[in-house]
Amino acid sequence: MSAADNSQGITPMLAEIREGIAQGRVPARIFNDQEIFDLERRKLFGKAWCFLAHESEIPRPGDYVTRSIADNSIIVARDEHGNICAHLNMCRHRGNMMCKSEMGNASHFRCSYHGWVYKNSGELVGVPYFKEGYDTRLDRKQWGLVEVRTESYAGLVFGTLDPQAPSLDEYLGGFQFYLDIYLKQGLGGSEVHGPPDHWVAETDWKICAENFSGDGYHTPVAHQFGFHLGYFPSSGATHSEGWAVHIPGKGHSIGLGHTPGMPPFFGYPDDLVEQMHESLSPQQLEVFSKTRTAVGSVFPNLSFLIQPFSLVPGEPGVRFCTMRLWHPLGPGRMEMWSWCLVPKGASDEYKEEAYKAYTLAFGQAGTFEQDDFENWTKVTRAAGGSLAQGLEFPYVMGLDRPPLEDWPGPGHAVSPYVTDTNFRNLWGTWADYLARED
Ligand code: FES
Ligand SMILES: [Fe+2]
Repeated sequence: MSAADNSQGITPMLAEIREGIAQGRVPARIFNDQEIFDLERRKLFGKAWCFLAHESEIPRPGDYVTRSIADNSIIVARDEHGNICAHLNMCRHRGNMMCKSEMGNASHFRCSYHGWVYKNSGELVGVPYFKEGYDTRLDRKQWGLVEVRTESYAGLVFGTLDPQAPSLDEYLGGFQFYLDIYLKQGLGGSEVHGPPDHWVAETDWKICAENFSGDGYHTPVAHQFGFHLGYFPSSGATHSEGWAVHIPGKGHSIGLGHTPGMPPFFGYPDDLVEQMHESLSPQQLEVFSKTRTAVGSVFPNLSFLIQPFSLVPGEPGVRFCTMRLWHPLGPGRMEMWSWCLVPKGASDEYKEEAYKAYTLAFGQAGTFEQDDFENWTKVTRAAGGSLAQGLEFPYVMGLDRPPLEDWPGPGHAVSPYVTDTNFRNLWGTWADYLARED
């Protein structure tokens, strides 16, 4: 049976997809398919650790943001004791959405339907006509908001819908080494610089997750204006240089692009580089000192990018950091969430410059952002076409390349940076989740 023949259901197709991935083939239809999306909703987003918020988005007691895991709206709040908690944004009485704002500060949430009131830590504390209507039959303790399990790493708050999920630490499985490059550049860690941009795109979330797992291959073509006009310091001749690293079986990956001759830590102010020498390990500094671009993803759909962008063409540029969440809305449809992250301990001047560079390159109307989504939307549309149902894509780049033996960090590292190695691990992990028994 070909991967396109779904007459016997999705299970045999998944077995074939898994076999194909190991040999360097991925079917086009996975990038726009209702049945695949239904499985992802249940077996992937229902089981994995999914990003909810950065702690700096809710710094004070009562601060909250509303976020989602798949099609579940979730309130992420800091309670009166300063603890972060997450609850399903659904009233326990008849299911109304409790909180309709994206962000705010509230000690309590009152339902707009019949008026039940919950503390931001989830307890049901107010029921209209409690004595008159319910007599003694309603035990308020049992009807608090449904709690979502959360854990944090370096300011990132993740949630899982699976009570049996392993710890976040185990889930990240060593990828913390690379996450620190984004999150621990200064002594105080990272913070968001303003609220996130978000918008809906007719693009499958997986295309973006793959791209940000280290697709250095597209950069000189899709973003060629950046090279030609002097906004981005690399050249087509050397752009393949660097490293691709993934955590086997976990799906987390990073691409580390290298530009020969570029001074270490260029694009950062000296005082921040000094802080990095305290906040990062010698091994992390060794990796980061050679890196121009660091583009990586925490499986399944949270990505990061550090990249230089010149505010004045021809100058070496400012390095900024963006964090992005590819939130799935349906097959071939997603909501893009994009933040600018800055080191807390950096100067205000650097934070503003980095934010400008981020906005020009990867804000909603950013030049790199536009280049990417133009391509991703076309890929998504094509993948949903009838003829595409029988087609596969080649993922054979670097198929037999052995890992580097002297790599200073964890994971499976290869060079050069342009390779499909990370993507085979990404889709292999994805297929493993989808094939798991409930
Ligand atoms: S649905 Fe919330 S109080 Fe009735
Ligand atoms: Fe891109």
